Amino acid sequence: MLAKKYPYYLANKAQQSKEQMDVLDKYSGKVATRVAVPDAKAVEKAIAAAVKAAGPMREFKPWARQAVLQHCVQRFSERKDELAYALCVEAGKPIKDSAGEVTRLIETFTIAAEESVRVNGETINLEIAKRLNGYHGYTKRVPIGPVSFITPFNFPLNLVAHKVAPAIAAGCPFVLKPAERTPIGALIIGEVLAETDLPEGAFSILTLDGKHASPLVEDARFKLLSFTGGQIGWDLKARAGHKKVTLELGGNAACIVDGDQGPKLDKVVERLIFGAFYQSGQSCISVQRIYAHDAIYDALKKKLVAAVKALKSGDPKKKETFLGPMIDEAAADRLHGWIDEARKAGGKLLCGGKRKGAMLEATLMEDVPTDAKVNRLEVFGPFALLSRYKDFEDAVARVNDSDFGLQAGIFTDSLDHAMRAWDELEQGGVIVNDIPSFRVDNMPYGGVKLSGLGREGVRYAIDDMSELRLMVMKGR
Ligand code: SIN
Repeated sequence: MLAKKYPYYLANKAQQSKEQMDVLDKYSGKVATRVAVPDAKAVEKAIAAAVKAAGPMREFKPWARQAVLQHCVQRFSERKDELAYALCVEAGKPIKDSAGEVTRLIETFTIAAEESVRVNGETINLEIAKRLNGYHGYTKRVPIGPVSFITPFNFPLNLVAHKVAPAIAAGCPFVLKPAERTPIGALIIGEVLAETDLPEGAFSILTLDGKHASPLVEDARFKLLSFTGGQIGWDLKARAGHKKVTLELGGNAACIVDGDQGPKLDKVVERLIFGAFYQSGQSCISVQRIYAHDAIYDALKKKLVAAVKALKSGDPKKKETFLGPMIDEAAADRLHGWIDEARKAGGKLLCGGKRKGAMLEATLMEDVPTDAKVNRLEVFGPFALLSRYKDFEDAVARVNDSDFGLQAGIFTDSLDHAMRAWDELEQGGVIVNDIPSFRVDNMPYGGVKLSGLGREGVRYAIDDMSELRLMVMKGR
């Protein structure tokens, strides 16, 4: 179901090239397909085209932007099996999760289609003193101009959608560099966008490697850089000059399980297992640190271990597979090394811990020293650690003892604990009675501390990609 080769997109048009890049099936390790690779001249052409398209995109009316987004919704729905299969192959994402991501891709474009016709302003009362009689203020939002995007491998469709769909809704031309290991999802999005009447130059999707992507970061003609990925995002920000920068950089998400959850443990375990291990833990909000109250700790541990041992791992193309490979062997080897290091430092392995190639077992540990990498850094793999707490204050302090703060979860029946978690956890979002991995695509999503800057979630991205323009009118 994959094409033999995929073009890149320059100023809305498919382009072939002599130079090609292999895309591997992440489970078999074999070449699944190839993509065309742009040269340095193409990057300059894409930027120049985006600059030229800024005016036409601004003039491209909200109903026309909406029609483009609705076309995408329709075409993605028609091509959903092909999209899910491509994702399963290029990312090694189990087919069930791949289908789930396609559903979210469609939802993200649907939300953007709705938002595209309600990018509104407001009326401001300026008559705050007698001398200001007759002055009236009005705001509207205008597109910020050409924008650049760099997206990661773990959600090759939906994290592209979170940049592309708001850009179209806001009226911004864009140049996108998808992840090198998983470019196919973005290229199929490009194929669908090429079917629309977006103004020429409105989009380019360039299958570049990191070395050749510098202009997307540094070129002053871009008015905003939106990056999702690792801590390298902070270096990009330092090189980005005066442009706005949005960063979504992950974390070591924590989840508190309160002492009153005894009767609900089966449901809690089901959600924790999903949050820690779906798509092999390769999500920025994957459950990494579980803080369980003393009263339920032992029961929770027993149920978690049993549930982890029951997970089916193997070929992501099979419907029954829950745990597929990590993105590559190097990533699995890196986390395997961190697990070994934590064991040597006194951490106890409850289950998992073995690796074969890119397949790392779902791994649970307890008694992990606080300075271990699996506690302090982002594991981005199928791993969670369990810790015991007695006082709620202590649980909050331990969640906050992190350089990151994207989302946290808390399972509790106490309204007081829920409200205190919302007040006191240093996070972009707090999810009560579910896992930190919960995300709906219209909610504000982004972090504090090293987890990033700004928020995605279509409306919030549109705000970033547009500017408030004030008009003051002297009337009666
Ligand atoms: C991420 O890994 O940042 C995205 C998580 C999601 O969209 O569910």
